[in-house]
Amino acid sequence: MTKRGVSRISISIPPDLLEEFDRAIKNLGYDRSKGIQVAMRDFLTENKYMYEERGMVAGAITIIYNHKVKGLEDDLTDTQHLHYNVISSTMHIHLDERNCLEIIAVKGEAKSIHNLAKKLMVRGVKQIKLAIVS
Ligand code: NI
Repeated sequence: MTKRGVSRISISIPPDLLEEFDRAIKNLGYDRSKGIQVAMRDFLTENKYMYEERGMVAGAITIIYNHKVKGLEDDLTDTQHLHYNVISSTMHIHLDERNCLEIIAVKGEAKSIHNLAKKLMVRGVKQIKLAIVS
């Protein structure tokens, strides 16, 4: 059954993120509803392989995190050691006093990569980006 009409939702967003989002959509001539729809569709396209979970894939998981968050760096290292079988190598870049960028090269079953990406999305990780080819 196809659902019709619209769903109204209420979400919580940090004010600075909302401000930046509003500026960006204003430039594109979108209102918030349109902007969020576009962002959601992009997200679904970009992460399609994530929920299809089939076959062998290779690529990179890029994360940005605040290394001052207590225990975070250890957690991320532990997670990577647990998934050593799908990680080819990791590049660490110190962006500034606080932020680190890590590029994790991966190869293996889509399901395992998915699993790894989920475990990397912990508190203190600001952004995670996957560039995966099948
Ligand atoms: Ni660093």
